[in-house]
Amino acid sequence: METMQEIVEMGQQYVMNTYGRLPYAFTNGEGVYLYDMDGTKYLDFVSGIAVNSLGYGNEALINNLNDQMHKVFHTSNLYWIEPQNKLAKKLVENSCFDKAFFCNSGAESTESALKLARKYGNMVGGPEKCEIITMKNSFHGRTFGSITATGQTKYQKGLGPMLPGILYAEYNNIDSIKALASKEKTCGIMVEPVQGEGGVIPADPQFMKELRDLCTELDILMMVDEVQTGVGRTGKLFGYQHYGVEPDVMSLAKGLGGGMPIGCMLAKDFCAKAFQPGDHASTFGGNFLSATAGLTVLEEIERLDLVKNAEENGAYLQAKAAELAKKYDFITEVRGKGLMQGIILTEAELVGKIRVEAAKRGLLIIGAGYTALRMVPPLIISKEEIDQGIEILDQAMAAVAEA
Ligand SMILES: Cc1ncc(COP(=O)(O)O)c(C=O)c1O
Repeated sequence: METMQEIVEMGQQYVMNTYGRLPYAFTNGEGVYLYDMDGTKYLDFVSGIAVNSLGYGNEALINNLNDQMHKVFHTSNLYWIEPQNKLAKKLVENSCFDKAFFCNSGAESTESALKLARKYGNMVGGPEKCEIITMKNSFHGRTFGSITATGQTKYQKGLGPMLPGILYAEYNNIDSIKALASKEKTCGIMVEPVQGEGGVIPADPQFMKELRDLCTELDILMMVDEVQTGVGRTGKLFGYQHYGVEPDVMSLAKGLGGGMPIGCMLAKDFCAKAFQPGDHASTFGGNFLSATAGLTVLEEIERLDLVKNAEENGAYLQAKAAELAKKYDFITEVRGKGLMQGIILTEAELVGKIRVEAAKRGLLIIGAGYTALRMVPPLIISKEEIDQGIEILDQAMAAVAEA
């Protein structure tokens, strides 16, 4: 077997240079821990960026995937796929939506939502009703549609022109949306219940309520991007459930597959019907393996009471991080919902330095926005494991403060 250094060098030579990677390569995982090629153990506050909701080595996920692999991996969406139907049923029964469409990633679920909004606009208002409003500082993916929807120019640099008909409003500012929205022109408004990549910024309850009212008044689809917040992450099964509103469309990916690639768009019947056969498709979307993973993740979340764990241990994680804020002047705020927490720092360069010092000491953590350290551990994490992570983070911060 190659050494970790050899793997790093091979990657540098052959893999396209699109990520700022740390020089680690992992071989296996157990619970909330990953092990690198040298056998060193790391507590994982990253979860493959809010993906590995059940942690590593979940028996049900392994067994169900193994059973399915021995039957069939893939047919086509030209036939019915039993686990896909069961996953759709479970998602619908546990949300305010009526129908599901499956794809393979978060960006594709954004694309699906953008396309559904345009189709809906056409259906109820004609071709003029085609504008979509998204939020500044949002993140919705990397395809041309989803990167246009992403309200951050840093991701769009050098890629223009962007998709026409997408307008940007201020997050948590309903007046800024009202200034752009109209019944004649706007077909959809997309919002993250907690902006993730933008720096872990929760939506304001009043904002979400007023957004719902505005969308109803002007016959605009209220679309929540729950790629990061969905499937238990924030201490509710879906992030919108914190706000007492029912959106019309929701996109999911990341945590839904527990590590298997899957994306999903859910919609209420009144707008889902804007898609007819041939309007949208995905070869792999909801195939036997990814759908089995999604179904098992939801079953395990229920069986292990992981939404409650995310709520309770998320609050614990926030409280523990707030103790660090008392100790280090460079922490300005701790914010988030459930097991999606951000520690906000005074300077962007501190994020990278703390990440490096934490990894050296056996804790994986990531950044978000410019100045946030983001903590999105597996939903199975215990209080003891959180204590352990905070202890390492404390040491890493002390090392950075002393340097
Ligand atoms: C809110 C949100 N939407 C969409 C995406 C894109 O997902 P993917 O990388 O699976 O395409 C992300 C990824 O970080 C996200 O956080």
